[in-house]
Amino acid sequence: MTRLISAPCAGLKGSARVPGDKSISHRSLMIGALALGETRIEGLLEGEDVLRSAAAMRALGASVHQDGPGRWRVSGRGIGGLAEPADILDMGNAGTGARLLMGLVATHPLTAFFTGDASLRKRPMERVALPLRQMGAQIHARQGGRLPLALIGAREPMPITYTLPVASAQIKSAVLLAGLNAPGATTVIEPEPTRDHTELMLRYFGVDVRVVQTPQGRAATVIGQPEIEGRDIRVPADPSSAAFPMVAALIRPGSDIRLENVGINPHRIGLIETLVEMGADIAFENRREQAGEPIADIRVRAGRLKGVTVPTSRAPSMIDEYPILSMAAAFADGPTRMEGLAELRVKESDRLAAIVRGLKACGVELEAGDDFLVVQGSRTAPRGGAEIEAELDHRIAMSFLVLGTATREPIAIDDGSPIDTSFPGFAVLMNALGAKIRGE
Ligand code: S3P
Repeated sequence: MTRLISAPCAGLKGSARVPGDKSISHRSLMIGALALGETRIEGLLEGEDVLRSAAAMRALGASVHQDGPGRWRVSGRGIGGLAEPADILDMGNAGTGARLLMGLVATHPLTAFFTGDASLRKRPMERVALPLRQMGAQIHARQGGRLPLALIGAREPMPITYTLPVASAQIKSAVLLAGLNAPGATTVIEPEPTRDHTELMLRYFGVDVRVVQTPQGRAATVIGQPEIEGRDIRVPADPSSAAFPMVAALIRPGSDIRLENVGINPHRIGLIETLVEMGADIAFENRREQAGEPIADIRVRAGRLKGVTVPTSRAPSMIDEYPILSMAAAFADGPTRMEGLAELRVKESDRLAAIVRGLKACGVELEAGDDFLVVQGSRTAPRGGAEIEAELDHRIAMSFLVLGTATREPIAIDDGSPIDTSFPGFAVLMNALGAKIRGE
């Protein structure tokens, strides 16, 4: 356990490069492991979640090497070429790692066992197991579809067409990755579009990926059993990590910061859209493209925010950002209403409950229901002065440390160690910009 304390600071200044995108990092290791020849990755997120995926790909027979900080090399096995792992695949805290990997192995004739930490072992896996069974895999999980689970991959995989029951890029990606080793067309239809990094990266590797709009929603199809060759990938900085210094700069008067090389995929920037609606001064500079993904440098200057309503339709493009938006909302003029939050309850923690508990302890007024939250903002900075339980949830920990940069009294987190799952070096980077976060 590492207790962290964030104390009020002056305005944030300077430039920073937050670590690589977690979603793209997982996918680059997994897809690299299916390609023939070498995939060289730059800017890989070396957080614990992604390192678990690296270890899992090694256990499945790929060779995965670190050449230097953020620089990795994967020599893949070809689609259909994964080997049976000799031991249990322990995915740690990583829901994305666990679910995408289940898809990947579901259409290989091998047996694999999956487990994870106390947080991951509480999270629902049936949502992924269901379509993978339709493709021919056998999956036996604990009650409630929880890890640990055993997966026996299909000997004769079947392509399917699957309509997502919940907006989830993890389910979509698991099915599309499974479809890579099924003969013919595997299609996922999503009523609400979610992040499309799997589709973009598969296409970048040369897979035939077709995306069309249908009356039921966006349909993404992969044509299975292609031969793909290794490619070079530069992973952009993670917009979900950039969100933390971004909001700190908005709520600390006098701040002016630049975050470099950040992914601005339209399916990931719902938070920025919302903050701009709230009146935030956020500008994209130097827009460019890298490995099929749009990126930019982001300049953020402090200013007054006003409360807004965030509609359910925006949830998929900012699903990981509600904790940090809730912190920004505490500093806005008037209420900010967030709707369609049911999925927050099955993330690394029950995030809706964790936000409510933490903000109340810091003196912020709010109202919450099963799937909505209204945060009452105020011109006066909230009191703070609370000890927050991080509950093995990196984003809850970072959100409250950001809040502590601007409350009247410091905020403490009981355990900051989960931050390393997605944002190693968080406190150092924030302090270089002017925050006052220290360990005890
Ligand atoms: C992710 C998808 C989202 C998100 C997670 C990363 C991905 O989960 O919360 O942090 O990389 O596909 P869901 O798809 O379950 O909403």
